[in-house]
Amino acid sequence: METQPKLHTKRLTLRPFSLTDAPRVQALAGDRRVSAMTANIPYPYKDGMAESWIASRAVAFSRGEAIVYAVTLSETSELIGTVSLTELTAADGNLGYWIGFPYWGNGYCTEAAGALVEFGLKEFGLPLIYARHLKENRPSGRVILNIGFQYTGTVSTNVHGERRVLEHYERRT
Ligand SMILES: CC(C)(COP(=O)(O)OP(=O)(O)OC[C@H]1O[C@@H](n2cnc3c(N)ncnc32)[C@H](O)[C@@H]1OP(=O)(O)O)[C@@H](O)C(=O)NCCC(=O)NCCS
Repeated sequence: METQPKLHTKRLTLRPFSLTDAPRVQALAGDRRVSAMTANIPYPYKDGMAESWIASRAVAFSRGEAIVYAVTLSETSELIGTVSLTELTAADGNLGYWIGFPYWGNGYCTEAAGALVEFGLKEFGLPLIYARHLKENRPSGRVILNIGFQYTGTVSTNVHGERRVLEHYERRT
């Protein structure tokens, strides 16, 4: 896929990131309530990290390694979070997401992740998408089940330097 198409849902527009999003990413992802439950967001989230991350995501897309979307409110164009498929291979991809704390509990993640999963399976042609969350991250588990994934068991991985057990889910069609 040469360019990353925009995706539209009822309330949201999913679009590629641009470097001008960096201050907003730093403000939202720099919140400990957001980073604590993820393996990949550093804390503290220092100046320059958002710019590097955005630039690296564009490179990853061009290499076929990841598809990362900025989740924005269609009505106001406000950036509220991100959804992504990473670790892409011909066989599968890893679904990830975060939504800025002020926007939690409005169904935005369910809406955005659902659209990306449909795109990944149907347009992008991935045979399988998997998703993982820390046991205590109940909202993330709800999102994954809301969008049609099946629970398959646990895996162990490194989260912020500690070995942690994650719940693992898969969806094929
Ligand atoms: C997980 C996260 C993305 C969910 O975003 P969101 O937009 O609030 O999700 P939704 O509004 O779509 O809600 C998803 C479900 O979680 C439930 N939920 C929301 N906040 C909750 C809370 N504090 N406690 C329990 N359940 C909660 C909702 O009720 C909904 O479940 P339901 O459909 O059964 O009602 C958001 O909490 C977040 O960014 N967390 C930090 C980063 C993170 O955990 N990323 C995922 C790593 S695996």
